[in-house]
Amino acid sequence: MGNKEWTQLWLGYKNVSNDNKTVSCEVVGFNKDSQVIKSALCELKSGLKGILSDEVVDNAGSYDIALTIKKVDAIAKEGFKLESDTSSVSILASDDNGALYGAFELLRQLSCGKKLSEVNVEKTPSNPLRMMNHWDNMDGSIERGYSGQSFFFENKEIVVDERTRDYARFMASVGINGVVINNVNVKDAATYLITDRYFDKVKELSEVFADYGIKTYLSLNFAAPIELGGLEVCDPLDEKVIGWWKEKAKEVFGKLPHLGGFLVKADSEGRPGPFTYGRTQADGANMLGDVVAPYGGIIIWRCFVYNCTQDWRDYKTDRARAGYDYFKDFDGAYHDNVILQIKNGPMDFQIREPISPLIGGLTKTNQMLEVQIAQEYTGHQIDLCYLMPMFKEVLGFKTYCQKENDTVADVVSGRAFGNKLAGMAAVINTGNDKNWTGNYLAAANLYGFGRLSFDTELSSEEIAREWIRLTFALEKVDEDKLTDMLLRSREIYEKYTSPLGIGWMVTPHDHYGPSVDGYEYSRWGTYHRADHLGIGVDRSDKGTGYAQQYYKENAEKYNDPEKCPEELLLFFHHIPYTWKLKTGKTLIQHIYDSHFEGEAEAEQLFETWKSLEGKVPSEVFENVSHRFELQIYNAKEWRDQVNSYFYRKSGISDQKGRKIY
Ligand code: GCU
Repeated sequence: MGNKEWTQLWLGYKNVSNDNKTVSCEVVGFNKDSQVIKSALCELKSGLKGILSDEVVDNAGSYDIALTIKKVDAIAKEGFKLESDTSSVSILASDDNGALYGAFELLRQLSCGKKLSEVNVEKTPSNPLRMMNHWDNMDGSIERGYSGQSFFFENKEIVVDERTRDYARFMASVGINGVVINNVNVKDAATYLITDRYFDKVKELSEVFADYGIKTYLSLNFAAPIELGGLEVCDPLDEKVIGWWKEKAKEVFGKLPHLGGFLVKADSEGRPGPFTYGRTQADGANMLGDVVAPYGGIIIWRCFVYNCTQDWRDYKTDRARAGYDYFKDFDGAYHDNVILQIKNGPMDFQIREPISPLIGGLTKTNQMLEVQIAQEYTGHQIDLCYLMPMFKEVLGFKTYCQKENDTVADVVSGRAFGNKLAGMAAVINTGNDKNWTGNYLAAANLYGFGRLSFDTELSSEEIAREWIRLTFALEKVDEDKLTDMLLRSREIYEKYTSPLGIGWMVTPHDHYGPSVDGYEYSRWGTYHRADHLGIGVDRSDKGTGYAQQYYKENAEKYNDPEKCPEELLLFFHHIPYTWKLKTGKTLIQHIYDSHFEGEAEAEQLFETWKSLEGKVPSEVFENVSHRFELQIYNAKEWRDQVNSYFYRKSGISDQKGRKIY
């Protein structure tokens, strides 16, 4: 079953066959029977054998290393400290996960070129929850998946094999401690994941994860009491419904000891939820929170709730407002084991959006950030789009929810308001392709999200360089080239797609390639409102009032087109084509220039990539080259469709006289 071949991503330790290396391991204070400690030891043994070389040890040829894993209670939860000298190294931690993460850090630092004696570091994870959300369906398909089929599910069965173990290793190596295995849109067979049809297999899978310190989570169907229990309603305040869930929770947690809890998409895009019964989101989330509480379970409740049957003629309803409108009034009403999971922007993972005002807008509720490394709107893992620069902007955004500790990173880590349950989740970009992520270079986002969720202080560049060093053996000049390609890629993608924060303009449903009006007259609330004079949505106090959902400092800035950051100008304002930007260019000229530049820069990316031929494995070279060919085709389509569209609407020519159709 499944694809039989897969790469080792960033854990491909090099000279594994050399056995003149002796690494003695001592475990002090930890339970030697702990599976997590065993995983750490196993990884260290094989990893060090591969990595130890004259470059790594201080005295050439001295490969006898004494390794100690020691329990030190003073070290923070899931944190670690590494202490080393020329022939010994200690990994200190207060819990199993900390020891495992310390082991991976040691291997990473040595693989990245540090000498053994230089590996002295202490780390505490920035976020308590660091999660991957799979949108895998039980028939094997993946919603918004661009790397093959699911490696968890095939023909409505669960697959557990060596690949599952490697997946768990990769996730643990970057600090992931929770995985939701099934799509948030829970239908058909997936509804039965909480029944004895699947308990044995989910348990087997969750045990593999547990060996690597990862808890398993399931997405739930809110209508399960109807679909599985034969009840007439799924009203969260109905006694029979509550009773059904209580029994269910008892059964599920009894069968699945490694289960962390559930993720719920309710009242969203056709999924059932409490609104059907005139109940609130808090009623739904708290009811489930209460039934899982006796087992230490948590409920992660998504805030992606909006009216998806809007009339495009309606200028008052604003999808961007919806999250805040539905959730802010109940701030403080959510129970302690409930977390609200909030997408980074108020719309849907566009290449540029403002940060959701709900993050930090809520001050008395557990909250976590949701981002998407599956490149649904950012090029389907065909176009190169390294997302860490975007995530760093999100994390660094000042919400003004407090005087200090007011960034998104402060809020979602739990620091700002003292929440124990908090963190980051990514909609994952993996599938059963040999290289896991379709495009070999898209693995930088997989690696990057994990690293960033563990340490939000890391820079995009540090993460990119680590990933490159661990994945390829490149000379410094080539590493520089590839780093630069990754770092520029998001800006380039943004330039040739939708301008200045307006978003969308994508082919409906599929979301790859341009269709400027594709969503303009639809029910999805995703409009650009372009006419012959200008473009953009007025979300100021004279428009939908969305800008007022932020704290004063941000609200004032966004409300005024003169003060609004220009990359978001069209998200917040309807702007005439003749409007002068800070560069001195008119809006229309900016649209033309950025689209010509973006396409040209995509071609440069490919040229730079071509210079790496023979330096990366040929399979990688071919895989990525093919995708660059498609990216350039895509960039040309975007450039020409967007430019022609706005030329035809505005009647204003390009000052530089370039070809517009
Ligand atoms: C997007 C995406 C859907 C997904 C949804 C969600 O709208 O296109 O496929 O189900 O987000 O986040 O739930």
